[in-house]
Amino acid sequence: MVGKRWLIVILIVVLGLSGCGTRIIDGQQVNKKEKIIIKFSHVVEENTPKGLAAIRFANLIRERSNGSIEVQVFPNSQLFKDGEEIEALSRGDVQMIAPATSKVSQLFPQWQIWDLPYLFTDLKSVHQIMDGPLGQTLLTQLEQKNMKGLVMWDNGFKHLTNNEHPIIKPSDLKGLRFRIMSHGILEEQFRAFGADALFLPFNDVYQSLEEGQVQGQENTISNIYTKEFDRVQNYLTLSQHGFLGYAVIVNKEFWNQLPGQARELLESTLLEVTQWEREKARELNEEQLEELQKRKKMNIYTLTSQEKSAWKENFSSVYSKLEQEIGPDFLLDVKKMCEPQEKN
Ligand code: LMR
Repeated sequence: MVGKRWLIVILIVVLGLSGCGTRIIDGQQVNKKEKIIIKFSHVVEENTPKGLAAIRFANLIRERSNGSIEVQVFPNSQLFKDGEEIEALSRGDVQMIAPATSKVSQLFPQWQIWDLPYLFTDLKSVHQIMDGPLGQTLLTQLEQKNMKGLVMWDNGFKHLTNNEHPIIKPSDLKGLRFRIMSHGILEEQFRAFGADALFLPFNDVYQSLEEGQVQGQENTISNIYTKEFDRVQNYLTLSQHGFLGYAVIVNKEFWNQLPGQARELLESTLLEVTQWEREKARELNEEQLEELQKRKKMNIYTLTSQEKSAWKENFSSVYSKLEQEIGPDFLLDVKKMCEPQEKN
């Protein structure tokens, strides 16, 4: 009898020492070696939808994990530029990134659907695709490169800026050189109208506009405003011709070795921040457009819906090019999701 009791006591002590059962986590008590550090690198300013969401995510995770998980945010290409950050994530030099979908499309061509001009007429269809099975298919592709896609964030619709003349019809693009975020569809989008396209990392855009290496670029209001492109661009066409969104991605090996509880906390917080981020993107793009209007540095022209329809028709070669590259099926599924829903 006595022997059995001792066995139970010894078992309890051993289990206790080996850390079984619930461990109370207190940020101050966490051993530095146990702390989970997530380096989150991105290329935009802090006062942008992605920049603010990354900070919010880091703060919520610190609070909710009592300091045992630390998300360290590195904005503004401080650690890695475009073209470097995906490689850095695959290698494990950083654990989290949120590149524009266009940059992911350099590895996985189906991601170019996000770049198709005038495919998405509103954010509702964008979100349905992002959060549904088609979005999941795209995110799963990342696993081939030691990455895991968790969620997708918004920035918003892109517009055109340049420093030569107002752009109202597609033929106004002729002869101008535009900076593009990636090769492929974006290149075709400009070349289709006799314009030239040059791939440049985000961090180099301001200087290239200033020095005349390119005459124009396409971006969201938030990126135009926070990078002060209006100092080096005379014309803004509110064209809403393309969408700019992000994939929030982690290093797969790092993710798989995290304790289940940490993964759950990170995932649920990320889902919550995603809703917040999308709302913030909408708000910021509106507020910052007003700021640009007040600054009066650029001449701003808004395309009418008839003008937008004319642009869309002229982009048919861009759609055919993508269809040839990725096959018709995936594109057809995406197009179906973008068809106008019944009006109520
Ligand atoms: C760009 O390169 O213009 C954007 O993709 C930057 C960003 O991350 O919003």
